[in-house]
Amino acid sequence: MHNKKLRRAGVESKICEILKHHHIETCEDLLSLTPLEVMRLAGQSYYQSLQLLKSVSQACAPKIITAQQLWSQRRDLCFSTSLTELDRLLQGGLPRGTITEVTGPSGCGKSQMCMMLSVLATLPCSMGGLDSGVIYIDTESAFSAERLLEMAQSRFPDYFSVPERLLETAGRVHLFKELTCQEVLTRLERLEEDIISCGAGLVILDSVASVVRKEFDTSLSGNLTQRSNLLGRQAATLKYLAQEFRMPVVVTNQITTHLSERAASSSLSRRWNATEVPGGEAEGDSGYVTAALGNTWSHNVNTRLIVQYLDAQLRQVSHGAVAQPLLNQLEY
Ligand SMILES: Nc1ncnc2c1ncn2[C@@H]1O[C@H](COP(=O)(O)OP(=O)(O)OP(=O)(O)O)[C@@H](O)[C@H]1O
Ligand SMILES: [Mg+2]
Repeated sequence: MHNKKLRRAGVESKICEILKHHHIETCEDLLSLTPLEVMRLAGQSYYQSLQLLKSVSQACAPKIITAQQLWSQRRDLCFSTSLTELDRLLQGGLPRGTITEVTGPSGCGKSQMCMMLSVLATLPCSMGGLDSGVIYIDTESAFSAERLLEMAQSRFPDYFSVPERLLETAGRVHLFKELTCQEVLTRLERLEEDIISCGAGLVILDSVASVVRKEFDTSLSGNLTQRSNLLGRQAATLKYLAQEFRMPVVVTNQITTHLSERAASSSLSRRWNATEVPGGEAEGDSGYVTAALGNTWSHNVNTRLIVQYLDAQLRQVSHGAVAQPLLNQLEY
């Protein structure tokens, strides 16, 4: 990955320091130089410069893995959601190394689910957790530490009866509030170091849609392309991080209505009416509701989970593009 720091690419710290003075810090920075420039800036011989460029190029190139290796790793590749039925549907839990999107109407509990997953990630492996830190990128100022601890205590009363454990969990969830598209992108592109320093085993972006939809009016010409490019960069970075650290990455998305497609029974859409979506008056009486951010974005996510209302207390979580028969009920 081009954003990888030179230190992480195995470059000697002495050379990293020299290059840093010339603002050469990432693999991309170095690989943009000619061997002669590397010679001059890093004080290396021509042969050493060629070797340096070669080793950095190899370090940031995607690793080859065989299908057999992937198959044998499959059991380690899931992070349990602690919901038996959902885990069964996902064949073990949220897949590591890929992006899982949680989408659904406003207020249905996507952020609550993210906070719950944060608690789970901090639990010991013997309890199905990852025994790791969490990076939580909050674009809506929706994160609540109080709520996180409340959920932890109510789901695992025995484990969290020890106050130190509660504090430890709270200390392992690292919150980054990023309120503009540029801030989110910059954070993602620097996240590799944060993941290492926080010992993170889970990255959450809640939500990918809110800032993008606020800043890009796609009815204006050119904005759609710009938005797709931005989302493409965000997704590519998240995918790289997921794969590099073999971790689950969770993003939340909003929903949108396509009235013009009412007649179509598209596999990407689901007909919800106002009684199913409390507070969903923006969706109208019988709009076709689908995840926001369009088709291009939908190809960036590997797993899509749809949360929807059953009643005031209960939520249904479905897997895939179309809402399936009842799979799981969440109670908050
Ligand atoms: N302390 C709490 N106790 C019980 N339920 C709560 C508590 N805090 C929030 N909730 C529930 O969570 C709902 C809000 O869920 P959440 O913020 O996760 O929605 P969301 O899907 O992320 O919405 P949005 O798309 O607007 O971000 C509230 O309507 C409420 O039902
Ligand atoms: Mg939310």
